Amino acid sequence: MRHLLSIEGMSAGDMREILDATPAVKRGRGTAGPRPLEGQTWAMIFAKASTRTRVSFEVGLHELGGRPLFLNAGDIQLGRGEPVKDTARVLGRMVHGTIIRTYGQQEVEEFAEYSRIPTINALTDAEHPCQILTDIFTIEERAGAIAGKVVTFVGDGACNVPISWIFAAAKLDFELRIAAPAAYQPDRELLQRAGGRVLVTDDINAAADGADVLYTDVWVSMGREAEAAHRLQELTGYQINNALVKRAKPGALVMHCLPAYRGKEIAEDTFEAHAKTIFDQAENRLHTQKAILNWLVS
Ligand code: CP
Ligand code: NVA
Repeated sequence: MRHLLSIEGMSAGDMREILDATPAVKRGRGTAGPRPLEGQTWAMIFAKASTRTRVSFEVGLHELGGRPLFLNAGDIQLGRGEPVKDTARVLGRMVHGTIIRTYGQQEVEEFAEYSRIPTINALTDAEHPCQILTDIFTIEERAGAIAGKVVTFVGDGACNVPISWIFAAAKLDFELRIAAPAAYQPDRELLQRAGGRVLVTDDINAAADGADVLYTDVWVSMGREAEAAHRLQELTGYQINNALVKRAKPGALVMHCLPAYRGKEIAEDTFEAHAKTIFDQAENRLHTQKAILNWLVS
């Protein structure tokens, strides 16, 4: 039984298998391709908002022959306190797979254990594995193999997206630099656990020098809204803008997992100048996640 719960828990071989299968999935879209999910229903339990992840999974499941069953976590008994392990055992007897967006990583792990059906992490506070697989696919599509490249993440370096980047760096042999103020840097223990070439610094300019990719994410992740004012103040300056892009390698990719807050983590003109890359990245969620679904049921 395969699951996709975290980049931390994936092998480099499994990541490569999904990444290497994605180009054919993308090229084959709209043709009468294989429908490995024919007759299947996949639950999508979302406890947080979503545009890209929800739409790309609903469309992807449909294109592979399956039926998505979207469940707002607040509308099912889970939202009234029914345990994850009971919800998992019920759904495991009715549907063929589950895609979950929630807060605690433990909830997704527990769901996988008790449901005994393929389970996908569609974002937790700890990781966003589908996003990072898509981002690596997008980099390789535009600039060739990720191995040996320098990826610089700017902003809140302790949230789910940079954490998934950290675990990917050692597995796929690229250099990751994280530019964030001290209070927004990833945990030391986590960095040690991940290994790999990861530089963490509060010097945004040094982190950007010669980078192949400049990447950012929101300063206020879902669930952190109460800290918004404080975060906007403390993260000021950790922004991708034209001055920072000049420090990176000529032709460097500027990426954003979206949604974007202009004037905060990225300047408006920089965002628009790199919109082609950023919206390719958004579109690629669909193709990569179809490759993930194929891999889970293969
Ligand atoms: N990047 C991403 O996961 O977007 P959504 O929150 O819209 O799904
Ligand atoms: N770090 C962000 C990612 C959004 C796709 C969040 O958790 O809100």
